[in-house]
Amino acid sequence: MEKFGPVRVGLLGIGTIGRGTFEVLRRNREEITRRGGRSIVITRVADVDVERARAIVGDHAEVCGDGAEIVSDPDIDIVVELIGGYTVAKDLVLAAIANGKHVVTANKAMLAVHGNRIFAEASKQGVMVAFEAAVAGGIPIIKATREGLAANRIERVAGIINGTTNFILTEMRDKGLGFEEALAQAQALGYAEADPTFDVEGVDAAHKITLLASLAFGVPIQFDKCHVEGIRGLRNIDVRYAEELGYRIKLLGIAIHREAQPDGPAGIELRVHPTLVPARRLLANVEGAMNAVWVRGDAVGDTIYYGKGAGAEPTASAVIADLVDVARMLTVDPDNRVPHLAFQPEALVDVPILPIDQARSACYLRIPVADQPGVLARITGHLADAGISIDAALQKAAEDECQTDVILLTHVSDERRILSAIEAIEAMPTVLGPVVRIRREELG
Ligand code: HSE
Repeated sequence: MEKFGPVRVGLLGIGTIGRGTFEVLRRNREEITRRGGRSIVITRVADVDVERARAIVGDHAEVCGDGAEIVSDPDIDIVVELIGGYTVAKDLVLAAIANGKHVVTANKAMLAVHGNRIFAEASKQGVMVAFEAAVAGGIPIIKATREGLAANRIERVAGIINGTTNFILTEMRDKGLGFEEALAQAQALGYAEADPTFDVEGVDAAHKITLLASLAFGVPIQFDKCHVEGIRGLRNIDVRYAEELGYRIKLLGIAIHREAQPDGPAGIELRVHPTLVPARRLLANVEGAMNAVWVRGDAVGDTIYYGKGAGAEPTASAVIADLVDVARMLTVDPDNRVPHLAFQPEALVDVPILPIDQARSACYLRIPVADQPGVLARITGHLADAGISIDAALQKAAEDECQTDVILLTHVSDERRILSAIEAIEAMPTVLGPVVRIRREELG
């Protein structure tokens, strides 16, 4: 059935995902060939650990220690970059593109920071850079956004796009653990890296939502403008209070295309932070290390995509789907390929990413107070002065004789108003510590 010869793939990095890709490609060879119209074969592998790489691929592929050999090899059609990081990977990807190779990558950090340049070079050379595996692992969210939803004006995207933090938050809620204990549990079970900084500080989710915002709204990639808050400071008591009020706390990546408001300009909100999500929403029920992305388009309405965001074979599933796409497109006129960032490169628009003080959210506030008459009235007075309306309130019985927590849910307001109200509340002598603020969204 093959009209053309096999597509020859050079693999850069054969760690967990590389190994999964190698194994799934071999296991499902026939199905994949029937889909792509050509067989797809990894013929060369480069890895710093040459011996380990040889042990994985046996005599099915040639192994070397230097990726530069692969990106310049005239017999390689597609380079799969699974090294990760911003530097070596970027240099090899740019070299592969310069040599006319198509590229498949799972590297969200590299694309979030250097993607505009990489895609521009790829367009110049007429090659594809495919990156389904870079966002939400096995969930085909890039293809869904770029192709399946192409009829829509996309209004909002919100996602649980980091499995490590979702696992930690689930453990905190289910088992009543503190953040550090839940992190240790995630590390013991292999969900979290030894250095979990990128995950728990929200950086990994910010890389991914930045890419999704470009695909959804047709704007250049602007990772430096994404507002990022992680979950390290989150306390179990807030998880419990949120639960009592009917909410779950999730680390969400959020991208919202805002129309002009009477008190604010049009633009894009791009942010990652812990968020109260109503417990009845699908997103609130995404548990453990699972991922989910919710996209609202003007024509389609609400859509949600759920699955494994990491792991050898789920991520390999996305890498190989890209390989099949490239294999199909190798016979197609370059000008008529699906554009990298969904919109034609000359049609990107410069709708601004709004500074975080222009973002609009409802909020959860936990205020440690002296248990005295008039305190609640003064707090609500400060919120009223800032034009903020209260949606719900909860006051716990005092744990000791003179101190308790007041928990308030506010209606939507802009960031500036809420910060000025918090400043006034924290200045009250009867407020005994910093106010904990967690944003709350009716998303998903
Ligand atoms: N570390 C990521 C996560 C997976 O925990 O979801 C790769 O992006």
